[in-house]
Amino acid sequence: MEPFEDFAHTGPDTLAGQFIRRFWQPVMVSEDLEPMRPQRIQVLGQYFTAYRGEDGRPHLVQDACPHRQTQLYLGWVEDDCIRCFYHGWKFDGEGTCVEQPAENESFKDKVRIEGYPVRDYLGFVFAFLGEGEAPVFPLFPEVDETTDTVTYNCHPVPCNYFQRVENDLDEVHLHFVHRVSTDEIGLSQLPEIDVAERDYGILRKGRRADDGNNVTRTAHIMMPNVLFTVTPASAADPDWNLHIAWRVPIDDETMASFILAVRKGGGEGLVRRPPTDPDPNDITEEVLAGRLRVQDLDPGYRGLFNVQDNVALAGQGRIVDRSLDRLGASDKGVILLRQLWEREMKAIHEGHPIKDWRRPKTSFLDIQSREMELVKS
Ligand code: FES
Ligand SMILES: [Fe+2]
Repeated sequence: MEPFEDFAHTGPDTLAGQFIRRFWQPVMVSEDLEPMRPQRIQVLGQYFTAYRGEDGRPHLVQDACPHRQTQLYLGWVEDDCIRCFYHGWKFDGEGTCVEQPAENESFKDKVRIEGYPVRDYLGFVFAFLGEGEAPVFPLFPEVDETTDTVTYNCHPVPCNYFQRVENDLDEVHLHFVHRVSTDEIGLSQLPEIDVAERDYGILRKGRRADDGNNVTRTAHIMMPNVLFTVTPASAADPDWNLHIAWRVPIDDETMASFILAVRKGGGEGLVRRPPTDPDPNDITEEVLAGRLRVQDLDPGYRGLFNVQDNVALAGQGRIVDRSLDRLGASDKGVILLRQLWEREMKAIHEGHPIKDWRRPKTSFLDIQSREMELVKS
């Protein structure tokens, strides 16, 4: 396999890892990062120290102290700096060493750590983990400007992130994987798939022949790993649902889905969605061990959608061997996704610039309505 064909591995030295690191990524839930209580987090196979200073601003710096490698999260937060637990070296959020209690004054100017740009947004801490200057932070006016309820949550998924991203391009799976739930909302018919490259990534359309509700679903895959969907209204679910999901690698065999959902009505602002009980990952494990069948799960179980996807995706293996795939016409989306990633990774490999991926200036909701009009006419 050429290095630019390997989408699965995302450490700092890999091409896929370098591609993802060119974009801001959510790395944790904001409220889980309490002031003065640093945490060790793992993203893209790399560990980091996350902390919130006395003023409430989040910071993200490297994992290990450059003195003798003690993990920095064990230390103390002082103002907006972190002090190492072992010998008290102190660093600010940009990575400057501001104090070395037992050293000569001049030594600290020779020592730095990695500090990453971070910001809180819509319930998550976002970070730019790449090299050089951070790109413009991608805002979502579709969510910022809503007066409806916005829920957010983050949950781990037991497989490589790229399997999850590919699934976002795969509308046919709804008909099988989610058949219990989709029958009711009119998505049970097999769709005809249409995909196209756009400035932001991929526009995906699934048209259904009947003229009931949910005839066509449109989704936008924002490069490299964000799904933006608006589920059209249906008889069972009259208020549209806006859904944004970031598929972020934790390591190469586990990923986290960071999910935002806007639902018309409610007006409760930004609310954290409580964890599902029982945990969908526990149920997934039982299914994959052959002790439970998805088909026997309670259709009213709130984690059913997650379990259904998890089982299909982790059932491919933690990291799927794509060389064994036999792709067909309904895999158009997956094929285009792989082509675009390969093109971009090859550019990085050869030292060329990648495409300037950017979200549309207008709202995705306008694009959505336009696409729906085109379908109707
Ligand atoms: S290991 Fe951090 S100050 Fe010594
Ligand atoms: Fe699914």
